[in-house]
Amino acid sequence: MKKTFIAALAAALLLPFGAFAQKAEGLAATPQMGWNSWNKFGVNINEDLIKATADKMVELGLVDAGYIYLNLDDGWHGERDEQGFIQVNPEKFPSGMKALADYVHSKGMKLGLYSDVGPKTCAMCEGSLGHEYQDAYTYAQWGIDYLKYDWCHNTDLNPKGAYKLMSNALKATGRPIFYSMCEWGTNKPWEWAADIAHSWRTTGDIWPYFDTIPSEFDGQWHGEPIMSLVDINEPLRAYAGPGHWNDPDMLEVGNGSLTMAENRAHFTLWCMMAAPLLLGNDLTTMSDEVLQILINKDVIAIDQDPLGIQGLRLKSENGIEYWFKPLQGGDWAFCLFNRGAEDAVVNLDWNSLVFTDELSGLTFNPAGCKAYNLWNKKAKARKAKGVQKISIPTHDVVLYRVSSK
Ligand code: GLA
Repeated sequence: MKKTFIAALAAALLLPFGAFAQKAEGLAATPQMGWNSWNKFGVNINEDLIKATADKMVELGLVDAGYIYLNLDDGWHGERDEQGFIQVNPEKFPSGMKALADYVHSKGMKLGLYSDVGPKTCAMCEGSLGHEYQDAYTYAQWGIDYLKYDWCHNTDLNPKGAYKLMSNALKATGRPIFYSMCEWGTNKPWEWAADIAHSWRTTGDIWPYFDTIPSEFDGQWHGEPIMSLVDINEPLRAYAGPGHWNDPDMLEVGNGSLTMAENRAHFTLWCMMAAPLLLGNDLTTMSDEVLQILINKDVIAIDQDPLGIQGLRLKSENGIEYWFKPLQGGDWAFCLFNRGAEDAVVNLDWNSLVFTDELSGLTFNPAGCKAYNLWNKKAKARKAKGVQKISIPTHDVVLYRVSSK
């Protein structure tokens, strides 16, 4: 057995349990941003794909825009060796995980992995049950920066205990590792995981359908449409904040048959909810239109605002949702979202929008402010007053930054 691992394990066991009962701090001041392999590629991943994705993330300006994590989801695993150490799948990753981490780091990014609390992952690869400290040690040796930890085959495990165990194991490595819980919201992790993890899934799996899953999938297991995830995640805003975020699952922007309006609305709502921005599409083939959504820095800034307050859906009128998010320095993000199936025209009376957000105690009052249209840069900033006629195509959004500057 590796000597440093024994030393780390001994230190972990000798110190009082409470000493490691915390996640690594300072890693999640704002929601994490990156790319994850699952939504597009499932278990069909390999080192060529990951390196090509890393190259694209630099070349397309995604790293500059803040997407720094490159995360392998299920399917990277090989067997355990005779001492129980997890190996990579040698066919998919012939150069090994350390070499891949070195490559990703050389591009200015960080590398993430995926495991599971149970004996097997959801795709029946090796899970971490009984190997938590050993796996955390291995990840740290490889230079891993992020762990997504799933909840399949959890049998009788106590969720808090199971997630805290890996949190402690990661902390014991001494390497700062972002810890993303993927427990699907089953045991209300928002009520108990703020000190354990940097983010927790609040929902089941996303599917690239906007508001309904086509009937051809009836009776089969599948994920949730994007709107269902919004409806689950929005009411949980009080639980999110710097260091601990609600995660309504990874992005499907650019996947399936989502229209450009739907891609834009999906991305915008994730930003309004201060959700993790984890791209889930094939970066080597995406269109420029999709790219322009993903690298809109003004919109990303709404998600990444340092105040870290998850936005709220204030009201819904005639199929139009009114979303607000308080930002640092007194600005607000304001989004009109046409959830309905028809194009709409809204006669917006700015003066009628004044309200106080009970959670933050902050008041939205557009008097004296300008409204900057973040998806239409050609539109001039306009005074946020009077009545404004706004056209919003079906499933699209209009997004403003409302600012006194
Ligand atoms: C679960 C997770 C997904 C993905 C798959 C991998 O379904 O919720 O995000 O990680 O497992 O098998």
